[in-house]
Amino acid sequence: MGPILLTGGAGYIGSHTGVELLNAGHDIVVFDNFSNSHPEVLDRVEQITGKSVHLVRGDIRHQAELEAAITTYNCQAVIHFACLKAVGESMERPLEYYENNVLGTLQVLQAMRATGVNTLLFSSSATVYGVPQYLPLKETHPLSATNPYARSKLIIEDILRDLHRANPEWRIGILRYFNPVGAHESGLIGEDPLGVPNNLMPFIAQVAVGRRNTLQIWGRDYPTPDGTGIRDYLHVVDLAIGHLRALQHLDTPQCLSLNLGTGTGYSVLEIVHAFEKSSGKTIPYEFAPRRTGDVASCYADPSLALAVLGWKAERTLERMCEDTWRWQHHNIHGYRS
Ligand code: NAD
Ligand code: WQD
Repeated sequence: MGPILLTGGAGYIGSHTGVELLNAGHDIVVFDNFSNSHPEVLDRVEQITGKSVHLVRGDIRHQAELEAAITTYNCQAVIHFACLKAVGESMERPLEYYENNVLGTLQVLQAMRATGVNTLLFSSSATVYGVPQYLPLKETHPLSATNPYARSKLIIEDILRDLHRANPEWRIGILRYFNPVGAHESGLIGEDPLGVPNNLMPFIAQVAVGRRNTLQIWGRDYPTPDGTGIRDYLHVVDLAIGHLRALQHLDTPQCLSLNLGTGTGYSVLEIVHAFEKSSGKTIPYEFAPRRTGDVASCYADPSLALAVLGWKAERTLERMCEDTWRWQHHNIHGYRS
């Protein structure tokens, strides 16, 4: 296969996927506006793989920039990561989220159509299941959204299904990620949120390294064994490998939705204790009220991805914590260290 265009390829999941693609012999073109990432990440990807990355600085809301990138490098497939992803911010700034995520994706699809590329992996999210009606979540669970970020993902999924109905020759993989955490084992790339982290693992890592004092645990009265929320955390390298497998599977026309998760849920307190063990640091925490919109438990039934792709998340919670810690303490201020 020819080069692969990674929109948002400088971000957390895109950079780890880039490493796996390069290691598997693919050429990659990163298309990013660096609104939530740092160009340094691409030097690190090159350092890890010993291969070079093509970079196009551009915005997915501009179709002409996307078309130029695809034709210049003769890209044969697109992995579309670029997106705004903060749930709370999406409730305050819904129009920015719909513009960047939905309009941006329409430009990506139109640029693909104009250049004759019809192989696409799309970063969806477990958030499209809304409030779980049963667990573990299967791909056939009803879809709904409880905030603009989630709704932008659901709208895009619907657009992709419509596109495939109208043009069945398209090859589309909709990948619903659960909670990606961890970092590359080299400690050279990892998650580097701007400002106060919204997500649990990067917040814990910043407490461990001394950037923040105390973790607030949102809710201790959920109907779970220890009262804290349960999620399906998966190692970002396992997730990246899932993209490689999914791309290999897109050798025939289809529109397939797949859960990428481990199938195992851990509570907030279990994550805190696992991180303490891996890092040797104490994580001071206090309980705070539930965060609006949070559900008690959410975890995947990942059996379809195993059946269809032969993919299964292999890395343990211990690895997720060790690798997060290695990245964070070698890069206390992330790529700006
Ligand atoms: P990220 O913010 O680290 O990466 C996204 C990248 O897209 C960034 O490099 C950003 O600069 C770029 N970008 C954003 N808007 C752009 C635009 N208009 N034009 C060009 N580039 C743009 O996020 P991530 O965690 O790597 O997430 C990647 C994808 O996975 C997103 O679509 C996200 O919604 C999805 N996802 C993430 C999680 C998670 O917890 N991290 C969970 C489920 C799904
Ligand atoms: C995990 C658990 C919190 C921070 C979000 C998005 C979802 C997806 C992944 C993109 C919950 C608790 C957290 C903190 C805490 N993203 N927590 N204190 O909410 O499962 O999913 O990221 O698609 O759409 O909603 O992940 O890491 O924010 O929270 O107690 O400081 O940790 O309440 O139980 P979440 P998270």
